[in-house]
Amino acid sequence: MADKPNTGDGDGAARRPLRSRLWFDNPDNPGMTALYLERYLNFGLTPAELRSGKPIIGIAQTGSDLSPCNRHHLDLAKRVRDGILVAGGVPFEFPVHPIQETGKRPTAALDRNLAYLGLVEILMGYFIDGVVLTTGCDKTTPACLMAAATVNIPAIVLSGGPMLNGWHKGERTGSGTVVWQARSDLAEGKIDYEEFMALVTSSAPSIGHCNTMGTASTMNALAEALGMSLPGCAAIPAPYRERGQIAYETGRRIVEMVFEDLKPSDILTREAFENAIVVNSAIGGSTNAPIHVNAIARHIGVELTVADWETVGRDVPLLVNMQPAGAYLGEEFYRAGGVPAVVHELMKRKLVRERALTVNGRTIGENCAASASLDPLVVVPIETPLKEEAGFLVLSGNLFDDAIMKTSVIDDAFRKRFLSNPDDPEAFEGRAIVFDGPEDYHARIDDPALAVDEHCVLIIRGTGPIGYPGGAEVVNMQPPAALIRKGVSALPCVGDGRQSGTSGSPSILNASPEAAAGGGLALVRTGDRVRIDLLKRQANILVSDDELNLRRAELQGRGGYAFPRSQTPWQQIQREMVAQFDEGMVLKPAVAYQ
Ligand code: FES
Ligand code: MG
Repeated sequence: MADKPNTGDGDGAARRPLRSRLWFDNPDNPGMTALYLERYLNFGLTPAELRSGKPIIGIAQTGSDLSPCNRHHLDLAKRVRDGILVAGGVPFEFPVHPIQETGKRPTAALDRNLAYLGLVEILMGYFIDGVVLTTGCDKTTPACLMAAATVNIPAIVLSGGPMLNGWHKGERTGSGTVVWQARSDLAEGKIDYEEFMALVTSSAPSIGHCNTMGTASTMNALAEALGMSLPGCAAIPAPYRERGQIAYETGRRIVEMVFEDLKPSDILTREAFENAIVVNSAIGGSTNAPIHVNAIARHIGVELTVADWETVGRDVPLLVNMQPAGAYLGEEFYRAGGVPAVVHELMKRKLVRERALTVNGRTIGENCAASASLDPLVVVPIETPLKEEAGFLVLSGNLFDDAIMKTSVIDDAFRKRFLSNPDDPEAFEGRAIVFDGPEDYHARIDDPALAVDEHCVLIIRGTGPIGYPGGAEVVNMQPPAALIRKGVSALPCVGDGRQSGTSGSPSILNASPEAAAGGGLALVRTGDRVRIDLLKRQANILVSDDELNLRRAELQGRGGYAFPRSQTPWQQIQREMVAQFDEGMVLKPAVAYQ
């Protein structure tokens, strides 16, 4: 890191020619230079600003009226601009294709790769020397980081921060987590429709992204763990003054990063990705994280597999007491010290690759050496973790090559009901109830003919990147209302889709390959016996290979696993080139560009 702040006189500019000079100060091509220059002067910029070697800093704006989780970035960008100007840069704000998790149908995940492509085009095609990535809602963070990885110009993440805590009748209500409980209460008749609405909407009391450790808080924490944001950035609640302050510091820092030529490839190393996996376990992070983090790795050219999530992350303890794996919400996580406090605890057991470089020019070990937890109830000491071995399990078998399971959310009731046979520990056998997509599940789950009981495994397919473009967040299926009334609030679930990061369900999900890509899930039938063995990391249908071969031939005779037609051009384009979840759901041709 530069020892003294850049004072705005462009004194660092001589250290290397900036790429923006190709546009605005290129004597080899006066014609184009003049054309580029004149139009960007027409709103009041001066030639000196564009020609004196000041870094031009993009502000990749993900906020808009369509994106309430990120909308306050429209205001934060003013503080980013102040920081950029003070440090001697010139800010250029531009829009990123919106990705609102709770607004886009059929699923916001469809747009992660679209926003990625759009941002790559902007960063490559315009005169941007460095970029501030404004992140927040689930897929905005990976979309921005994937693009920064591909283009590899200096880039820094500015998280938008979570909403304030939600409250209802004196209880904390967390984004997403309250929905799962409220649905169950509604199904049991404990609350009516109006109370259901009041309860659920209480969880969104301010600007910001989800206040639980869902995919948004997870991905922003992992951006920080990767070294891509200033230390402490991820957890600051959106409305707090510290959010505006770090926006300013982020703007200042990106200018210095351009002078130092500190690029994503210097930061996003294998060690950084291992830190992200470790931190994900410790925070009880989202099951969407492996998809997004593996995608970022692919775009920067670092080898990372689904198996790494178990190898590197399995033995890491759960340290953050935040919903859905714990009790608290974003404000408490911030007050406890956020990501630096988590890293600090993990460093005590040497679980962090401390030499990994971060955007402030220091290593993550240096950044977090003095960041002890400020509230041991929320970021708990590693000597007394909330749970040992909180990482994901990676399972395989005749249903799929790999799928993951978030064990940090297995509670005592679930364990007792499904995993407590002393002769067969950590294993469960049941009858498969199979659904083809979320519409089929909703139409049939309460059908008495299925006779769903507590010895069943709910399976959903047709919900992967191809079957349901982008992958549906549906694997955490609620049991039939009649079973919930009998006290069975959860059944083991398996699927080739995703599930919300706010769900506390220990589903087996992100199964690859999906049914629509020829995976074994296409062959399972309602009534088959399913065996899940967590010790052996296996999930299989107890059907002979001969029978499976027969079923496969029959399926192929029908033209393969059927899924609904594409509704938009992008759905079709993505379907034709998308990789499976285990490869990050990237666009296959896109990873060739680095
Ligand atoms: Fe945007 Fe959760 S819906 S962060
Ligand atoms: Mg989600």
